[in-house]
Amino acid sequence: MEKDLLVKSINELKHKHNAVIVAHNYQKDEVQEIADLVGDSFALSKFCANNDAKIIVYCGVHFMAESAKILAPDKTVLLPELDAGCPMADMVTAEALREEKKKYPGAVVVCYINSSAEVKAECDICCTSSNAIKVVQSIKEKEILFVPDKNLGNYVSQFVPEKKVNLWNGFCITHHRVKLDEVKKIKELHKDALLLVHPECQPEIVEVADYVGSTKQIIEYATDSDCKKFIIGTEMGVMYTLKQNNPDKTFYLMSQGLICPNMKKTSLESVYEALRSMKNVIELEEDIRIRAKRALDRMLEIT
Ligand code: 13P
Ligand code: SF4
Repeated sequence: MEKDLLVKSINELKHKHNAVIVAHNYQKDEVQEIADLVGDSFALSKFCANNDAKIIVYCGVHFMAESAKILAPDKTVLLPELDAGCPMADMVTAEALREEKKKYPGAVVVCYINSSAEVKAECDICCTSSNAIKVVQSIKEKEILFVPDKNLGNYVSQFVPEKKVNLWNGFCITHHRVKLDEVKKIKELHKDALLLVHPECQPEIVEVADYVGSTKQIIEYATDSDCKKFIIGTEMGVMYTLKQNNPDKTFYLMSQGLICPNMKKTSLESVYEALRSMKNVIELEEDIRIRAKRALDRMLEIT
């Protein structure tokens, strides 16, 4: 089907079924274009929990659609590409976490939203990259077990020096790939540009950044800044909104390797197909959902 016809058909199906389409900032440009809301994990979770639509088409990866289902159990949540996963989320299982928890009795278990519902169900509180500092600062206890992203965990641990933060050995294969040498080179090439990075980057890269934030926060920072040039240290999908919001500014991607293959699986065709066939529905066991929701609710209460 031609692009225009595909977009028209998606919109017709969307209205017929009272559906909304949400897209993460890493989605392909044409998918972001048709979404009712484009944002980071936090903004999309909140939106899914608080709107009247019957159906949510989640253009993102599996853990994100699961989070929508945890928060909005009465809605049908469709993931256009069911095998769009997050390799970092897969680096921790509920079983392995149960074992690890035995080593840290009394520690508060914080899980990054990039984790499965089963893992969330084992945790005390959830966080996203936009609120992780607030979340760890809200914890009264002295010890934390942070899963699965060791880079985000390491970054937020600096804001709670009085606490012991134990890190799971997980990481994002896309952000982790970037090496300090290439960052130094691009900084050298564009001396007048600010470096904005995602906290999933390795510590030595976060250290040389001018700003660290979630995808939405990076976009907001660049949009509000008086500076005209930026080196962007996160997945290339954010370039779409950055360029749309700031036609007078210049953006350089920190590394050409910043592409998440799972995020790029969703296409207009798969969005159309999901709405047409009502397949690829996210289902969760009620017991897991309720336990996972506690961790997400506790996060939402303080942010
Ligand atoms: P944000 O919450 O910043 O959108 O990040 C999600 C993600 O998967 C980053 O790799
Ligand atoms: Fe997961 Fe990294 Fe892709 Fe984000 S960019 S979805 S953390 S693999």
